[in-house]
Amino acid sequence: MQRFNKIAITTEDGTSTLYIEELKELYHSRNGALTESEFVYINKGLKYWSKASSVAKCRVLEIGYGTGLVAFLTYLNSSKIKKKIDYTSLEAYPVSTRNLEELNYNQLFKEKDSTQSFEEFSKLKWELNHQIAPNFSITKKEILFEKFIASDLYDIIFYDAFGAHAQPEIWAPDLLKKCFDILNPGGVWVSYCAKGSVRRGLKISGFEVQRLPGPPGKREMLRGIKT
Ligand SMILES: C[S@@+](CC[C@H](N)C(=O)[O-])C[C@H]1O[C@@H](n2cnc3c(N)ncnc32)[C@H](O)[C@@H]1O
Repeated sequence: MQRFNKIAITTEDGTSTLYIEELKELYHSRNGALTESEFVYINKGLKYWSKASSVAKCRVLEIGYGTGLVAFLTYLNSSKIKKKIDYTSLEAYPVSTRNLEELNYNQLFKEKDSTQSFEEFSKLKWELNHQIAPNFSITKKEILFEKFIASDLYDIIFYDAFGAHAQPEIWAPDLLKKCFDILNPGGVWVSYCAKGSVRRGLKISGFEVQRLPGPPGKREMLRGIKT
């Protein structure tokens, strides 16, 4: 993926994302990069878990750091949900600084009341834990999810890899079972994906699966609960 040429495009809600021509794959929905990220991961993932859980600390694992949009939105929401968030994001093929600048996310978030700008957030060093606010720490790891060994359990998994046509291996039952195994009881797996084979893979892995209405332009999305 690193070797592929990426271009910035504007999506329906006016925010930008990256497009990989060779794979015909986008980093976010064409119907709205920001809208999709907030809808799927913040509202149906983070806020859902936070309402259902009395635990004060939330460990989030993201598969696919990509542009950092979902990670940054989680940081912005961390003060609102009144939980401490320990965020780990895995990325096999980090996006270049040039591509990140083309997205203009620094401008998009410039009015937000945050201690870190998007640009500063993007420049946080990989493999180190950064406590960037009293209630938010992040570790970005350059690694394939397939090779990642979790040293502790998570409360939420944001499963944000590319689509199954581009990356069938990441949606296979063995990796969905890996997700189940590294979640705490009550843990939540969430993704934009709505494929029947993924839904079945989640069920076989032990998840209680919920088909939810999707973000604009998508009929459905999936959420799995480890009961
Ligand atoms: C849909 S994009 C993620 C978008 C991201 N969450 C964001 O907010 O920009 C998918 C990302 O998953 C990464 N990826 C693909 N396969 C992976 C794997 N096996 N392990 C870790 N990351 C992977 C890709 O390089 C890409 O950056």
